[in-house]
Amino acid sequence: MDNNLIDEIRAHVNIVDIISSYLPLTKKGKNYFGVCPFHDDHSPSMSVSEEKQIFTCFSCGASGNVFKFLQDYENISFLESVKKCADISGISFNYGAEKKYNKNQDLLDMYLFASKLYQNNLYSSLGKEAREYLNTRKLDDEIIKEFQIGLALNEPSILTDALKKKYDDKRLLSSGLISEGEYNLYDTYRNRIMFPLYDLSGNIVGYNGRIYNSSNKSDSKYINSRETAIFKKGELLFNYHRAKEQARDYKFVIIVEGQIDAIRCHQAGYKNVVASLGTAITKEHAMLLRKLSSNIILCFDGDKAGEKATNSAIEELAKLGIEPKIVRLPANLDPDEYILKNGKESFADLINNPLNIMEYKEKLLKRNIDLNNTKDLADYTNLMIKELSKIEDEVLREISINKLATETKLDVKFIKSKLEKPKEVKVIKQNNKVKYSKYEKSEQALIYYMLKSDKVIKIYEKKITHMPTDRYRLLALKIDCFYKEKGYIDIADFMTYIHDDGASTKALSEIISLDLKDEVDEEAILDYLNNIKRYNDKNLSNRYKKELKEETSLEKKIELAKKALAYKIRSENNE
Ligand code: CTP
Ligand code: MN
Repeated sequence: MDNNLIDEIRAHVNIVDIISSYLPLTKKGKNYFGVCPFHDDHSPSMSVSEEKQIFTCFSCGASGNVFKFLQDYENISFLESVKKCADISGISFNYGAEKKYNKNQDLLDMYLFASKLYQNNLYSSLGKEAREYLNTRKLDDEIIKEFQIGLALNEPSILTDALKKKYDDKRLLSSGLISEGEYNLYDTYRNRIMFPLYDLSGNIVGYNGRIYNSSNKSDSKYINSRETAIFKKGELLFNYHRAKEQARDYKFVIIVEGQIDAIRCHQAGYKNVVASLGTAITKEHAMLLRKLSSNIILCFDGDKAGEKATNSAIEELAKLGIEPKIVRLPANLDPDEYILKNGKESFADLINNPLNIMEYKEKLLKRNIDLNNTKDLADYTNLMIKELSKIEDEVLREISINKLATETKLDVKFIKSKLEKPKEVKVIKQNNKVKYSKYEKSEQALIYYMLKSDKVIKIYEKKITHMPTDRYRLLALKIDCFYKEKGYIDIADFMTYIHDDGASTKALSEIISLDLKDEVDEEAILDYLNNIKRYNDKNLSNRYKKELKEETSLEKKIELAKKALAYKIRSENNE
């Protein structure tokens, strides 16, 4: 791998441009700020430095250069992130098809194997009834292939027997594809149509198996993969990896409940669709949706459960400061049924005219009341004012206030006076919880300034200081190596240099989020060095004292006592 080329590619893109193509950044002083995509951030805690070409989140501690941002945001490997930047800057960069390293590669391989088996089953003679079922559900061959839908045959252990040749029982069980009976292992899924579930990068990591014929007496319509090392239902959205690019083009994303709903929307031309697979929207889901687009349309089932799901999704998104748009379907229809019944043009009408959050709340509140009744009108107005107080979008709030004023014939000023003040959002600094001792702070500061100026690196070299903390010692050593190799110091390039060393990357992020002065004089640097030396001397003195206690030979005892004293004096002299 050509490291100089990678640095050149990095130098040809601007981290501010790249990050702002994913999320809005606002300039404040020298730096840019945005809502951090890597934690459940509500107010802008991530700063992007154009000068240093790095980002740092002062709340969750995430930090790195442009490659790291792309890796974590897009969930891609380091080389893929380099390739992305190369493409943007028009530099040619050829790299081997490197896949992101996954420590559960064997589980992914099992799923890949299972998916081939299931897909073959569907098109074998034993798959006829399942294919007919899919056809009655209006899922044609093209869609079946695209979504890699398959079939688990009505046999106890076809998959188990095949996988057993390669993997031990414990590993087989941890995949979720295989289950354990009293006497033997057997296939988890039998006699079901198999819908694969994918992780964010598009690997199959789980299945949803649906019954399709009367010979399956099971009372659960679907069975889901159990939670495994690679499958966490609350952390993935069905169709996410396909919807990713589409959502950016459409500038919005649709979320539905079921996978067949998502497939149907996809078929109807809305490829920017994801499904929550019937579970309530979690914080992780909300963060994933935010990554796709800040413009989110909730399109859940038309029944009571769908309404409950809508309300809880609204609440979860509100925690991230997002106000979604809402489509409510006629009672008891889900998106799949709606599209089949009314056609995709009619569905497009709904998607093009979603309710904003206030219109939705208004509809809910008006359901069982009579606005001609004074008491009902008062209750309604009070509840609407409560909802209005929660709205963060100022334009939407202003419009909704005016609407309510007209409707109730109340004065706009009066309604405004009744609104609750929006609560201040508390920013919790997570990485500042740790209290560092004086010598640790000196180590950090020294490294901080080594990254800023080669003068400090030279002082460090000359006065070779043994940093007591392992991770800082390693980091300082790496900075020195980087400098010797390249002849300059640059923090963003240094991040590339240590990108595959997790411990150093973590130690570095502790240090760059420190709030230290930009400029430093040599005297301060020498002070830091002295603090570290003093700590080392004290440590050595204590070590000799301890050895002294255990030593039996008088001669050696005297020797050790002398040493302990010498280091003690040295540590105090430096004080
Ligand atoms: N689901 C599940 N387990 C169940 C029921 C539902 O995992 N026992 C998930 C499935 O992903 C399903 C989604 O929840 O797609 C929504 O459930 P539901 O509305 O009951 O099913 P539909 O999507 O309408 O499924 P179908 O059209 O196949 O009947
Ligand atoms: Mn359905």
